Amino acid sequence: MDCKSSYPSSILGPASTRALSDSIMILAQLSDPHICAPGQRLFARADTAGALADAVARLNGLATPPNLVVVTGDLTEHGTPEEYGQFQRVMAPLAAPYVVLPGNHDRRQAMRDAFPELPAVGPFHYTVEDFPVRLICLDSLIEGSGRGQIGPEQLAWLDRTLKAAPERPTVVALHHPPFSTGIHHVDAVGLDDAEAFGTIVAAHGQVERVIAGHVHRAMQRRWFGTIASTAPSTTHAVDLDLRPGAGAAYIYETPGLQLLHWRPWAGLVGHILPLGRFDGPHRYGK
Ligand SMILES: [Fe+2]
Repeated sequence: MDCKSSYPSSILGPASTRALSDSIMILAQLSDPHICAPGQRLFARADTAGALADAVARLNGLATPPNLVVVTGDLTEHGTPEEYGQFQRVMAPLAAPYVVLPGNHDRRQAMRDAFPELPAVGPFHYTVEDFPVRLICLDSLIEGSGRGQIGPEQLAWLDRTLKAAPERPTVVALHHPPFSTGIHHVDAVGLDDAEAFGTIVAAHGQVERVIAGHVHRAMQRRWFGTIASTAPSTTHAVDLDLRPGAGAAYIYETPGLQLLHWRPWAGLVGHILPLGRFDGPHRYGK
């Protein structure tokens, strides 16, 4: 099971071309692009493919582009083959290798058909071992539900996988945030087994961070001995309404992505990068 759960290195290209140095790494997280079929707009408004294309261009244009990109779910709005095809077309210009995991809007069979390198059976949990920071991707999708669950088998795999490399700095990625966000309608579709997940993470001090999506906002908190944070969506945001029982609403705030910068002597530093067209950079003093 373990060998089938590592992402094939052949997908990622030769190691020598990937790292800034042997020890430095930039991991970018894109989340919740909600790609629709070609020519369709989300909620009849948003050009989600155009928004994701902007994110790809932003990453490609960075002075220090990422070594690896993880897309933390809701790749598509309806989980159809047409939408996965559109997602792949938009992502194709990305210079860095990328890996994917499912969100509640995704469907495993269509995703597996689009990404045959994903595990052939069961949920899509796997590791990426080729970089200074080890990435562990989990699958929290319950097909047909907005809620998430990792499940006992995957949690046992996570525990074994973390035990196997206690010396390696590690990021664990999944779609559903493992904490209460304070946004009522998001928490109503939260992660069922967050406590069991946290107990395992707490037992493995090499977990530098747990990253998630789903909430379409940037959040962070102390969580079971590490940091848990969420990335904004590349398209619409969930409106910030913290009143108990507040209804679901979205808003077109500036979209963004999360970027994690690893230097072994400095630790893992997190950034939120807004996506858009901005004036600059300008040199100071000019
Ligand atoms: Fe989403």
